[in-house]
Amino acid sequence: MKKIIGLAAAGALLLALAGCADGGGSAESEGPKELSDLTVGFAQVGAESGWRTANTKDIQDSFEEAGIPLKFSDAQQKQENQIKAIRSYIQQQVDVIAFSPVVETGWDAVLNEAKDAGIPVVLTDRAVDSKDESLYVSFLGSDFVEEGKKAGDWALAEFAEATEPVEIIQLEGTTGSAPAIDRGEGFAAAIAADPNLEVVASQTGDFTRAGGKQVTEALLKSNPGVDLIYAHNDDMGLGAIEAIEAAGLVPGKDIKIVTVDAVKDGMQALADGKINFIVECSPLLGKQLIEIVEQINNGETPEKRIITEETTFTQEQAIEALPDRQY
Ligand code: AHR
Repeated sequence: MKKIIGLAAAGALLLALAGCADGGGSAESEGPKELSDLTVGFAQVGAESGWRTANTKDIQDSFEEAGIPLKFSDAQQKQENQIKAIRSYIQQQVDVIAFSPVVETGWDAVLNEAKDAGIPVVLTDRAVDSKDESLYVSFLGSDFVEEGKKAGDWALAEFAEATEPVEIIQLEGTTGSAPAIDRGEGFAAAIAADPNLEVVASQTGDFTRAGGKQVTEALLKSNPGVDLIYAHNDDMGLGAIEAIEAAGLVPGKDIKIVTVDAVKDGMQALADGKINFIVECSPLLGKQLIEIVEQINNGETPEKRIITEETTFTQEQAIEALPDRQY
């Protein structure tokens, strides 16, 4: 008898491990659920920028349209709030957890808890730096290094004829976040091709308009000869415009600006000539997230890395795109 119980326990363990392999999921054994019977928990970063607001709306709208119940939480840019939200989704035994990590590090413990509970996790927008890729089933979002490179390539071309050193101020996103790290890295790699271009100051504005304004105000005082501001998002670039104007200078002319995102306010500033170039980062991830959730529900394996398609905008392109811009 003892032997039979032992064999049954070993079998159950094997089944549980199989279910958790590659990030969890139980659809294979139980069959797909009706979409209206699924529950997805989404742990959002916060509401720090126009991009984030558009991303939240797109995700909420997409789930409503698909008829999949969504539990949503806003971490107010704090990792501990996001971890709490994920733990509560685990406790509520949701079918899928999706989240956009505030910062890259420190997720292994809570992701292991999700894996142990057999709940698949999808990363949207931002990456984690975990070495164990089985802790999430899929990562849907932009290539932030590429975005930084595009901004750097534009700067290289824009200042190709410069005879004097080109002084650059970098407004970084949230410290430790994937977009801040990668956009910094991509930009630095691109401008390394021309030793004339130099980042003379680099500080975080936390992806907010107020942060961008405050940091620019301070950095303009210590770097009066600045030629270019590279802001990791539109909102910080918009804050920089306010600071430049307050200093009696003309944004886009006296000091050029390149940003990332291409939200409506940023595009308007580009159309008005206050920003000189924008690298797009699309917040419209909702539909693709739904596809991933459906694949998990059907027992299929979603692609491990799905890169968002994006473009860049000059002033003329912004003027053309603005009337149809959704966000
Ligand atoms: O992770 C995406 C970045 O987060 C966006 O570029 C920025 O606007 C947001 O806050």
